[in-house]
Amino acid sequence: MKKFDGKWVLITGGASGIGYTTARLFAHEGANLILLDINKENLLRASENLKSHTENVLTYSVDISDSMKVKGVVEDLLRKVDRVDVLINNAGITKDRLLLRMTEEDWRKVIDVNLNGTFYLTKALIPSMMRARKGVIIQMASVVGITGNAGQTNYSASKAALIGFTKSLAKEVGPRGIRVLAVAPGFIRTPMTDSLPEDIKNAYLSNIPLRRFGDPEDVAKVILFLASDDAAYINGTVIVVDGGLT
Ligand code: NAI
Repeated sequence: MKKFDGKWVLITGGASGIGYTTARLFAHEGANLILLDINKENLLRASENLKSHTENVLTYSVDISDSMKVKGVVEDLLRKVDRVDVLINNAGITKDRLLLRMTEEDWRKVIDVNLNGTFYLTKALIPSMMRARKGVIIQMASVVGITGNAGQTNYSASKAALIGFTKSLAKEVGPRGIRVLAVAPGFIRTPMTDSLPEDIKNAYLSNIPLRRFGDPEDVAKVILFLASDDAAYINGTVIVVDGGLT
């Protein structure tokens, strides 16, 4: 018997980076997967790879910042599966710039995807979780939502907001048996961070006591633990996964 046998796990941004690795680890533990991602090509590749680990992989190529599309996706998937046991709100983007130069478009886009997308999906799924009287919802925050970071006012505001969202929702739905959590990674090697200039990467590295960047597995393993019954009494909090950076 594997830890997530028969469970349905939905991951946004599941086609790449931390989301894909998390999907792979869930599949190893017997979970059925629902992946939402805006990148059709990566989504197709991810689902082909994951099908060698688990029988059931549903994919939806969708922009989570489009509330009508998200509603449509959730209606469709709830016709196919009884319920979603674990929701991982992982999809996120950056549009880094100092505030002086930040456009309204840079601001809006990051808030739309990182924060509003999480709201749309969670709101669409929560009635089914409440009926089932169980479920786990995990937000992908970031350490910069706690510490702040120059050049990321939009991104860190969205991540700080996700922490507030997590804590408030935990208070609303805890009595219905649903746990709500956030994970705040530090610097993790993924396509999102690969594009950063070397000098910025080196500056980060010298501030990480473990003297290495995190791998997607470092975060994915924590997500699996939090989603499992081993974490049954952990609720409404943020778990930092940053090698000691903060
Ligand atoms: P990534 O860029 O490899 O993966 C993000 C995925 O989200 C991609 O597959 C992308 O296509 C998808 N996505 C983007 N916009 C979308 C939209 N509108 N609708 C649906 N899907 C969309 O990035 P990574 O690093 O795996 O990031 C995952 C999460 O972890 C993000 O929320 C990010 O902010 C967070 N994070 C990452 C850190 C890092 O160092 N890599 C550190 C802290 C947090």
